Amino acid sequence: MEQHDFGIVGLGVMGRNLLLNMADHGFSVAGLDLDTEKAAFLESEASAEQHVFGTTSAADFVKSLKKNRAIMLLVPAGKAVDAAISSLLNYLEEGDIVIDGGNSYFADTDRRVAELAAKNIHFFGMGISGGEKGARFGPSMMPGGDRQAYERLRPVFEAIAADVNGEPCVSFLGNGSAGNYVKMVHNGIEYAIMELIAESYDFMKRGLKYPDGKIQTTFEAWNHSELQSFLLEITAEVLKKKDELTGLRLINVISDRARSKGTGKWTSQNAMDLQIPVPVIDAAVIMRDLSARKEERIQASSRLIWTNSTSPVSSEEADIVLKEAFQFAMVSVYAQGFAQLRAASTTYGYELKLEDVARIWRGGCIIRAACLEDFRAAFRRDSSLSNLMLDDEIGGMLVDTQAGLRTLIKMAVDSGVPVPAYMASLGYFDAYRSPDLPTNLIQAQRDYFGAHLYERTDQEGLFHTQWG
Ligand code: 6PG
Repeated sequence: MEQHDFGIVGLGVMGRNLLLNMADHGFSVAGLDLDTEKAAFLESEASAEQHVFGTTSAADFVKSLKKNRAIMLLVPAGKAVDAAISSLLNYLEEGDIVIDGGNSYFADTDRRVAELAAKNIHFFGMGISGGEKGARFGPSMMPGGDRQAYERLRPVFEAIAADVNGEPCVSFLGNGSAGNYVKMVHNGIEYAIMELIAESYDFMKRGLKYPDGKIQTTFEAWNHSELQSFLLEITAEVLKKKDELTGLRLINVISDRARSKGTGKWTSQNAMDLQIPVPVIDAAVIMRDLSARKEERIQASSRLIWTNSTSPVSSEEADIVLKEAFQFAMVSVYAQGFAQLRAASTTYGYELKLEDVARIWRGGCIIRAACLEDFRAAFRRDSSLSNLMLDDEIGGMLVDTQAGLRTLIKMAVDSGVPVPAYMASLGYFDAYRSPDLPTNLIQAQRDYFGAHLYERTDQEGLFHTQWG
């Protein structure tokens, strides 16, 4: 039996395309799927020169791989990952490496690392971003785990990753579940930028009453400016698309109930555990949840009325304001995500280098954007930067664009169009730049009703007052 370089379990869209990407780069590959059609389809898609083997037998699959084996799982997060591991375990040997390429919850990865380490098998959590096209032609990959084991995988991953200026969008990120954690925060940022784009769309449509064509060209123009990003690029494409059934723009016949698989929620939940504020990501998760409550929103729309009394602004003024606001808010999302990564790295011992994270997010992934080059440069200037907003260049850009955001929020408030993610980014900025916050009052209240004690500004120690 031919011995292959790399194996993948789960031949869905991601698994199949990653294997073909590897085969394109001269690696011989094997795929396992319980579905006979998927296993056969993999082989039929490969060219005659490529070494591609598809099977439904776990035993044949493992036997077909070179030792120490490299096997990636691309199955849905949760129980399916544990099931895939146990289906392989009987055949695996010491020194083999199992990589989970799905969006697994990082604590599950920590558990699996420990369980497999007891059998001397290396387990890697590796976030992969880029969807179908990324998998086929170059994703961004976020591996974490055992550094030495990674060296064995490196040639394959560096060959298939997206490439930006000769640098592959993959890097060993850190210990344990670092790879899944970084991918989780990537998705939190993804949720937040998508929400900011959606709020911009809503504000242009309902607030400024722009025709669909003008909204589409606005996003296109942003994408051809310093705001260039994958999410803006696809938004401009989406807004152009005509529905084959009705001839209308497809966007206008798509339901507004958002669905999600949960990675954005995990980002917010864990940020709360770490006590790191990520309010724009929180707002994005909240808006998906609120969008699902369609019937209540319909009821409320005829009861909770606001009649706009202000006169509309000129579209020229609005265009400038909106672009500045988007730039500000987008940067603030990354600042929050990177701040969360910094805290997680300390708490979970990942030893992340944020410069590397910014570097591998420049290409291949969903949140790729021109500004990541600036963030990489900021972390290169100061690897211990606690928040991107404290970098002179990034902070200076926020100072320069804040006026646009403030005006946008005023206009949105007047028109009654919801912009909670934009508001959250301004609230975060204004709170972050306040040397004094009104939390002194909260401390006094806690002491009043619960004798929880407070600290003073002029003396060391904890104090209690008889308030009543
Ligand atoms: C990526 C995406 C990918 C997936 C999202 C969708 O980086 O390629 O993030 O992982 O499309 O997880 O997430 P929701 O279903 O939660 O929106």
